[in-house]
Amino acid sequence: MNSIISSKSSSLQGHIRVPGDKSISHRALMFGAISEGETLVYGLLNSGDVLCTANALRALGTKITDRGDGVWSIQGVGSKGFKSPQNPLNMGNSGTSTRLLMGLVAGHDVTATFIGDESLSKRPMNRVVEPLRQMGASFGDNETGCLPLTLTGSKTLNAITYKLPVASAQVKSALLLAGLNAKGTTHITELELTRDYTETMLGAFGVTINTKGLEIALEGGQFLEGCAIDVPADPSSAAFPTVAALLSEGAEVSLNNIGINARRFGLYETLIEMGADITLKNKRTQGGEVVADLIIKGSPLKGVNVPANRVPSMIDEFPIFAVAAACADGISMMSGLAELRVKESDRLAVMAKGLTQCGVQLEEGEDTLIIHGTGAPPRGGVTIETALDHRIAMSFLVLGTVTDDPITIDDASPILTSFPNFIESMNDIGACFHTVEAQAIDPIDFSHEKIKHLR
Ligand code: S3P
Repeated sequence: MNSIISSKSSSLQGHIRVPGDKSISHRALMFGAISEGETLVYGLLNSGDVLCTANALRALGTKITDRGDGVWSIQGVGSKGFKSPQNPLNMGNSGTSTRLLMGLVAGHDVTATFIGDESLSKRPMNRVVEPLRQMGASFGDNETGCLPLTLTGSKTLNAITYKLPVASAQVKSALLLAGLNAKGTTHITELELTRDYTETMLGAFGVTINTKGLEIALEGGQFLEGCAIDVPADPSSAAFPTVAALLSEGAEVSLNNIGINARRFGLYETLIEMGADITLKNKRTQGGEVVADLIIKGSPLKGVNVPANRVPSMIDEFPIFAVAAACADGISMMSGLAELRVKESDRLAVMAKGLTQCGVQLEEGEDTLIIHGTGAPPRGGVTIETALDHRIAMSFLVLGTVTDDPITIDDASPILTSFPNFIESMNDIGACFHTVEAQAIDPIDFSHEKIKHLR
């Protein structure tokens, strides 16, 4: 356990280098692995979750090298080249690794057991197991529909026509990856539009994929050709310094090269509706994705109503959005949040509990959350259980930058799954995050300079 205290900071100022997009990084490794030839990935997120994907692909027979110059090289094994791994594939905390790799492995003649940490082992896998079974993959009988699960793939999968019962880019992607090795055309209908990195990136690897609104069609038997992928910075990671800057009076923080794909941009739209001063500069296309540089200034925020149809485009941002709403002036309402209950933690329950502990007035429903902001930060002064959830950990550290009393999180280690330099980067712009040991060394002087010195 790695406990961190976040104390009230002065005005945040400066620049943060936001790490590479997690969704794109997973996909670049996976698609490179089943390609012909070499794939080079620039700006890959080097974090716990992405390393789980890399290590699993290595265990399946792929050569993946971190060249050490910011470039990763993948020697593809081709569309049928995986071999059965000798040991279980450890997916750690990563749902994306697990579900997408299940889709990928399903179309190969291999058997692999997937295991994960305590959080991942509680998350529902039937959403991919059921349709992959329909395509011809078999799974050992774990009635719970949770990890550990043993998957035996098949080179002769059949394409299916499938209507997604949940809005999930992970399930969509798993079925498209299985569809690559299936006989016939896989037809998928999304429940709502979700992130489209699989569709876009498969195109970059030379695959023809037809999309029209919610409908996607992919013909099996296509080959991928290795290519170069340039990974933009992750808008979900950028969300934490963004909200921290907005809540900090007089702050000015810049974040460069942030992916602003419309299917990931819901939080930023919502914050702007709340009165956030966020400027997007130098909009450009990088590796098939639109990116921009963001300048965020401290802003008074007002409560807002988040429409349910915006949920998929800000699905990972509700913990940090709830922090913004808790400090805003007025009521913020959110609905259509059922999927939050099956993320790295039950984010609806964990956020509601933590914010209530901090003194926020709120109402938690089955899939709704109403937060009564007073226009002033809540009091804080509590310890939050982060429940193996990186986004819960970072959200409460951000809240602690404005509460009168510091907020402690019981375990900061999950942050390594997505934003390894978060603590240092935030301290560099003026946050006061420090370890509990640092407090023990010097319980009086928590000034920013002192903390910097202790790190
Ligand atoms: C992801 C999709 C989302 C998101 C997750 C990453 C992806 O999950 O929450 O962090 O890379 O496809 P769902 O598709 O399950 O909503």
